[in-house]
Amino acid sequence: MARTILIASGKGGVGKTTVTANLGLKLAKEGYRTLLIDGDIGLNNLDVALGVEDKVVYDIIDVIEGRAKIKQALVEDNDGTGLKLLPSAKAHCSDRVKAGTFTSIVTEAQLYADYVLIDAPAGVELGFHRTACSAREAIIVTTPHVSAVKDADRVLSLLGTYDIRGIGLVVNRVRGDLEVKGETLDARSIAELLRLPLYGVIPESDRIGVYSTISNRMHDKASIAYDMLKDVILKRSEQVYDCTRNRFLGRFFR
Ligand SMILES: Nc1ncnc2c1ncn2[C@@H]1O[C@H](COP(=O)(O)OP(=O)(O)OP(=O)(O)O)[C@@H](O)[C@H]1O
Ligand SMILES: [Mg+2]
Repeated sequence: MARTILIASGKGGVGKTTVTANLGLKLAKEGYRTLLIDGDIGLNNLDVALGVEDKVVYDIIDVIEGRAKIKQALVEDNDGTGLKLLPSAKAHCSDRVKAGTFTSIVTEAQLYADYVLIDAPAGVELGFHRTACSAREAIIVTTPHVSAVKDADRVLSLLGTYDIRGIGLVVNRVRGDLEVKGETLDARSIAELLRLPLYGVIPESDRIGVYSTISNRMHDKASIAYDMLKDVILKRSEQVYDCTRNRFLGRFFR
C-alpha cells in the first residue's frame, strides 16, 4: 500500500508546495511511482510549481463530480521522471468538498503509486481538515522564524487528533549566515522545541525563487538538501543538510 504523506505548515507561504514538488521529483527520479495531490482546492499551485499548468485537462473537481476518472486527470511532469499530479481546481468553492470524498480519492490514488504526497492548504480550516483526514504520515514545513514556528506548533497539536503516525519537520529557506549570527532560529532548536525529528533543512535558494523546482539542477545546494530529505523518507537516513558548514548534522529525535 502506498505511503500517504501530508505536507502541512500552519503559516502560509513557507514552502509546502515547493517541498511537495521537489520531494516528489526526487522520489520519482529514484524510480518510485509518485503521485502528488494538490489539496489546496480553489487555488492551483502545484501545477504551476511543476510548470505543467498548460497540460491540465481535468482537475480534482472533475473527478469528484464524475466527469473524469483519476487516471484521466493525472498530469506528468516535464522532466520525464514519471511523477504524476492530480491538479486542483481554480476558483472552486472548496467548502463543497467533504473530507470523506477527498479521502476516497486519496485511497484510489494509492492504487497507482508507491508514494502519495498531499499538499495541504495554509491554515487550519476545512481544507486542512480534509487533507489531514486522508494521510497517515506528515511533514510539517516551517521557516526559521518565530511566527512560522508558532503556527507549526498549532498544526502539530491539531495533527494529534488525526490518524497520523509519523510526523517530521522540514525547515525551509534557511540562511546559514543569519543562523550563525543568531538572527534566525537554528533548525535543530526548532526541532527540539516542536519535539519532532528533523527530516530536512532546505537552504534559501535563488533558483527555487525563480523556478520552484530544482530537480534538473543537480549541483545546486537546494538539490542536495532535497536528495537528503528523500533519503530520510526512503531509507530513514538521519542526515540533513547543514547550511552553516556545508556538512551533515545528525537527525534529532523526539
Ligand atoms: N528554499 C527556498 N528558497 C527560495 N525561495 C523559496 C524556497 N522555498 C520556497 N520558496 C518560494 O517561496 C514562495 C512560497 O512557496 P510555496 O508556494 O511553496 O509556499 P506554500 O507554503 O505552499 O504557500 P501557501 O500557503 O500559499 O500554499 C514561492 O515563491 C517559492 O518559490
Ligand atoms: Mg501552497
